[in-house]
Amino acid sequence: MQILGIETSCDETGIALYDDNTNQFIFESLFSQAAKHNLFGGVVPELAARDHINKLLPLIDEEFSSKNIDLKNIDAIAYTKGPGLRGPLMVGTAFAKALAFSLNIPTIPIHHMEAHLIMAKYEADSLLYPFMTLLVSGGHTLLAKVNSPDKYKIIGESIDDAVGEAFDKTAKLLGFKYPGGPEIEKNALKGNLSDLVFPRPMINSQDFNFSFSGLKTAVLYEIKRLKEDKRLDSQKKYDVSLAFQNAAIECLVIKSVNAMRKENCNQLVLSGGVAANKALRKSFKKEIDEKNLFYPDLSRCTDNGAMIAFAASEKLNLQRDHEIKVNPRWSLEEIDYG
Ligand code: KG4
Ligand code: ZN
Repeated sequence: MQILGIETSCDETGIALYDDNTNQFIFESLFSQAAKHNLFGGVVPELAARDHINKLLPLIDEEFSSKNIDLKNIDAIAYTKGPGLRGPLMVGTAFAKALAFSLNIPTIPIHHMEAHLIMAKYEADSLLYPFMTLLVSGGHTLLAKVNSPDKYKIIGESIDDAVGEAFDKTAKLLGFKYPGGPEIEKNALKGNLSDLVFPRPMINSQDFNFSFSGLKTAVLYEIKRLKEDKRLDSQKKYDVSLAFQNAAIECLVIKSVNAMRKENCNQLVLSGGVAANKALRKSFKKEIDEKNLFYPDLSRCTDNGAMIAFAASEKLNLQRDHEIKVNPRWSLEEIDYG
């Protein structure tokens, strides 16, 4: 079966064609709108929706014609139904439904966060249920126990900001471009560990929740202080990046390890955009045996069409209705594709 995956939940227009007989991606293509949103310091939902409209058809046309594939060969179209930004979700959903209607094939609605974590199962035969997952993206920070393909139990989540948002905000305060996560990672490499230590909110709480707004505020005050003292030079920016990254990572590692212990899980899946951070992966490797640690390929950590097509092959919930319905707020515990 060949499944076309379409991702439009935020600011990346992603498409991919996956063949579940060969377990291969026939193509993967991504248009990132980051440069446009960078001008505004963050994602502008209306502009994101417009760009998806402008890009989806050309991307599909380019891939199918350059690879000489007939659209009629595809068996189903998977699309992101939520969670995400309503306008961008509506564009992808309407596009998927219309294309499927014209080809007389079914559609498969996909939960965006579930797709992030399921992507870690690609070529990872040793990953077995139940396992723990840490989902870290621009909109989510949560720990969930995955008991079976459809059974998620949320163990803990951020009570305020997502960790990706904290990365983006810190980068913005330091004058780095959007998205901030990769910029912080790059700049932190040149940072020195100094007396600068940011708080690790909720690290000693007995639950498995996270909080990143206090860390964000601490960074804000430190940068303000450095600016007032005219000391915010390049090296200081590297140091702040490193100190922030260390604090954020430590919170994620400690809570994940504790949750695994409590829930009796020895395997962990790291996924979502922040899981692309190599310092984060390295810190987890210090605590968890590498054979028990799973994450998608670096290129498939941030939003992409491949994860939507692959997740669809694992779910195969074929639908033939023409309802254009999205779920901008959708908990993993409420996955019900019916
Ligand atoms: O999963 P994703 O692409 O989109 C959402 O579903 O939100 O995640 C985007 C988030 C952004 O906050 C971005 O700054 C962060 O992931 N991110 C990173 C890295 N790459 C992306 N954060 C830290 N280090 C990275 N290398
Ligand atoms: Zn995402």
